[in-house]
Amino acid sequence: MTPEKEIAIQVDGICKNFGSRKVLDKINVALRHGEILALFGGSGTGKSVILRSIIGLEKPDYGHVWYKGTDLITLNEIELYEIRKNIGYVFQNGALFDSMTVWENLAYPLMEHTELSEEEIDVKVQEMLDLIQLKSNDNLIPANLSGGMQKRVGLARAIMLHPEIILYDEPTAGLDPANTKNLLDLINKLKSKGSTGIFVTHDIPAAFEIADRIAILYNKHIYVADTIENIKKSNDPVVKRFVSSHS
Ligand SMILES: Nc1ncnc2c1ncn2[C@@H]1O[C@H](COP(=O)(O)OP(=O)(O)OP(=O)(O)O)[C@@H](O)[C@H]1O
Ligand SMILES: [Mg+2]
Repeated sequence: MTPEKEIAIQVDGICKNFGSRKVLDKINVALRHGEILALFGGSGTGKSVILRSIIGLEKPDYGHVWYKGTDLITLNEIELYEIRKNIGYVFQNGALFDSMTVWENLAYPLMEHTELSEEEIDVKVQEMLDLIQLKSNDNLIPANLSGGMQKRVGLARAIMLHPEIILYDEPTAGLDPANTKNLLDLINKLKSKGSTGIFVTHDIPAAFEIADRIAILYNKHIYVADTIENIKKSNDPVVKRFVSSHS
């Protein structure tokens, strides 16, 4: 299958088994430029495996991930390293470097992927700290941050290089309403600047607020992918059960 022009990234028929257990069975989903696609699915059904497959942290058994005419599944680590400048990943567990300060965590992608001087890096890190409202916390290590702060640093680290696509793996899970709002505001701000993303979440109201379309992972494949309006008015029992049980 060749990718359509307006598609930013296309997951095409990926399958994944762990041992004899099939987790994903022909996942098809396309992300359009500038949209946020929310991905719903029960716990342990493979949402994180889909995101990890997109950026090559997991190798699917079959299928393709088309990005700018390239199948990301076929790339080696060096090639993926380049791709990861363009596709940011907000890890479900934050995945901050425990022994590094907030400043060092945020500076890391710039040190790895750019030739900027330490002064130039500091300017960018300070701008980001401002954006995530953690200006005076740059010397703290992750263990001394609240869960909400860690989530914000994780998001900030993922966007340091201004990726074209951002994969958000449950960025609001475990946050109180105020922190959830902060984070959603930040994602909305990125969206208004044209960023494209997949937003994995169990938080259906948040998805309705932020997403353009909803995809539901059910029975190992994308059961439906449609606009919020159509999802809300759907009479399909699976969709109805899903949406009502989570809202
Ligand atoms: N590396 C692995 N080895 C073996 N099994 C794995 C591995 N990674 C994921 N799995 C299994 O694949 C299934 C899907 O996992 P995944 O983490 O994608 O679920 P999820 O939909 O993200 O769930 P949650 O909403 O709880 O985060 C789970 O049963 C998990 O145990
Ligand atoms: Mg997950």
